[in-house]
Amino acid sequence: MKLINSIFQRIGRLLGISRPAAPPVEVIVVEASSEEESKTEMPEFTERRRFLNQVSIGLSGLLGIVLATPVLGFVFGPRRDEIETVWRPIGALDDFPIGRTVRATFLDPSPLPWAGYAAQSAAYVRQESEGQFIALSVYCTHVGCPIWWTEESQIFMCPCHGGSFFRDGAVAGGPPRLPLERYEIRVRDGQVEILARPQPLPT
Ligand code: FES
Repeated sequence: MKLINSIFQRIGRLLGISRPAAPPVEVIVVEASSEEESKTEMPEFTERRRFLNQVSIGLSGLLGIVLATPVLGFVFGPRRDEIETVWRPIGALDDFPIGRTVRATFLDPSPLPWAGYAAQSAAYVRQESEGQFIALSVYCTHVGCPIWWTEESQIFMCPCHGGSFFRDGAVAGGPPRLPLERYEIRVRDGQVEILARPQPLPT
């Protein structure tokens, strides 16, 4: 075949016929497909995916701990009827003028280590006459919302569903059916103390 080609080339040269120049070679650059790219980036991609998996597992575990803490506290915490009541100081006698309803705060009888601010409890305390006190829970007996005292109307109001109580804790209106819980009060050496106990869960 080579021989025939060279013969034709010679004949062509003799006859002055030259072979047309070969067309320029077109260089086509083929870019790597995304699949090929992903193959070349596979180690980095796998590393990133492993890192994200570990982060998501860590966050899931953290979320689980956060959600489980109150449940564990409820299950393993002390039962209400196992907790002893404790006398807690709530202020000097002068802090409770006769005829005034005063909000007093005190430490819960069994503060849990993680309770923080929630370890603080409160009561509305009123000295009706000299040495005679009424102390009422600040929690509504409907579903436990904190109530507030309105001096002008001499009524405790509940913001949740419109419940209201008279100043002695009796129900004045709204959905609550039970009066406010009462606390015992005593005065020792000019200090007023409250018999703190766990707050009841409204039913
Ligand atoms: S919680 Fe007070 S009225 Fe419902």
